[in-house]
Amino acid sequence: MYLKLVLLLACLGLARTAGQVRYDNYKLYQVQINHLQDSQLLHDNEQVLKLDTWREARNLGEFSDIMLPPQYQEVFESLLNRHNVSYNLRFDNVQRLIDEQRPKQRTSSMEWTQYHTLDEIYAWLDQIEKLYSHLVTPFTIGKSYEGRPIRGIKISYKPGNSAVFIESNIHAREWITSATITYFIDELLVPRNPAVRDIAKSVDWYIIPVLNTDGFVYSHEVERLWRKSRLPSDPTGKCIGTDLNRNFNYRWMQIGASADPCEQIYAGPYAESDPEISQLTSYINSSIPEGSIKIYISLHSYGQYVLSPWGHTAEEFPEHYPQMMAVAKGFADALHRRNGTVFTYGSSATTLYEVSGSGKEWAYAVKNIIIPYTIELPDKGQYGFVLPPEYIIPVSRELTEGFVGMIQAAREIDIL
Ligand SMILES: *[C@@H]1O[C@H](CO)[C@@H](O)[C@H](O)[C@H]1NC(C)=O
Ligand SMILES: *[C@@H]1O[C@H](CO)[C@@H](O)[C@H](O)[C@H]1NC(C)=O
Ligand SMILES: *[C@@H]1O[C@H](CO)[C@@H](O)[C@H](O)[C@H]1NC(C)=O
Ligand SMILES: [Zn+2]
Repeated sequence: MYLKLVLLLACLGLARTAGQVRYDNYKLYQVQINHLQDSQLLHDNEQVLKLDTWREARNLGEFSDIMLPPQYQEVFESLLNRHNVSYNLRFDNVQRLIDEQRPKQRTSSMEWTQYHTLDEIYAWLDQIEKLYSHLVTPFTIGKSYEGRPIRGIKISYKPGNSAVFIESNIHAREWITSATITYFIDELLVPRNPAVRDIAKSVDWYIIPVLNTDGFVYSHEVERLWRKSRLPSDPTGKCIGTDLNRNFNYRWMQIGASADPCEQIYAGPYAESDPEISQLTSYINSSIPEGSIKIYISLHSYGQYVLSPWGHTAEEFPEHYPQMMAVAKGFADALHRRNGTVFTYGSSATTLYEVSGSGKEWAYAVKNIIIPYTIELPDKGQYGFVLPPEYIIPVSRELTEGFVGMIQAAREIDIL
């Protein structure tokens, strides 16, 4: 057994062809965590079996989604069997799903039937900025580490509105977030029903479709499952990138974040080390009237959650927790009415996992934005990060309904 492992180590690492990392025959497992030892077992074998945790079980009885290279499949399964851990193979070739996300024929126009590149999204922004110049004010918060502009738009039908701020695709591989938020922008500009027209007109919407531009381009061009920024801050030079949603300057690195540059949840060398975050916060500070943002949303996938502060503790709840939950219920109920999709809501620490240095925590604690959420879009792990493009429109329609319910609920309790 040991010898076998050593031999297998020789084939470590992701195969690269033509510049793209491939995931041929990579497996995704759903592993049921019934005892604390089960998650310990996974952690203990993370390095040696090259386990890539897409999503971690939060409570006993739940599942962790684990990807691994094909050469470890046998060892992994016998390890789980030996320890009585139940599992099933979700899919046996991650590359096939990735290929299905790449259109055979690219359409440069936005029809929400395929996932678009940053250039395509920006070309579309150019168009709508011209076409709807009476409603749209473009803005750029600054440039990414690699020098790409980070663009957003403000949609405003009339002066004097309160605002909702949405940042999307802060995690590079979560492509469904920019796909759905661009659809939502289109809805706001050309509302298809009176309820959407109402939320378009009565609130100003600040939306950044792709905050992590470098990571997003990297996930298109090199490594589909890339999550972090591209800032090379590792002193050893081995690993690249910061988890931008751990890099905000509130309780930075307290919990649920890592100081190891090779980890997916690496918080960066210091708070706001990454230009994407320092420029986002200074844009909010200096370019948006203080106090006008009432709702802050960080859009993510996957898992179907609306998560509020606190992230750093499950023992306490913020002062405005009742309001946060009332508005989250408005979102989840409205979304559910569309097609039965269930979103769970609650604080991060009590619902999913502990986290500090995230955007919603900063929005609430530093900027006093009463309703701050991380929203985790579908699905619940059937496809995870590689949700097929046919899901873009249904997920977008549901999200639109959710936002209608969210705004109505916020109005009912006088937040808007
Ligand atoms: C594995 O599960 C079976 C059936 O539930 C049980 O009889 C056995 O003792 C368990 N073995 C270990 C090592 O936990
Ligand atoms: C933004 O404003 C907050 C107070 O509202 C302040 O604590 C913070 O340092 C400011 N950040 C930047 C980057 O200007
Ligand atoms: C609605 O939900 C059903 C059951 O989950 C699913 O099969 C169907 O594709 C969904 N339809 C839309 C339009 O999302
Ligand atoms: Zn995310």
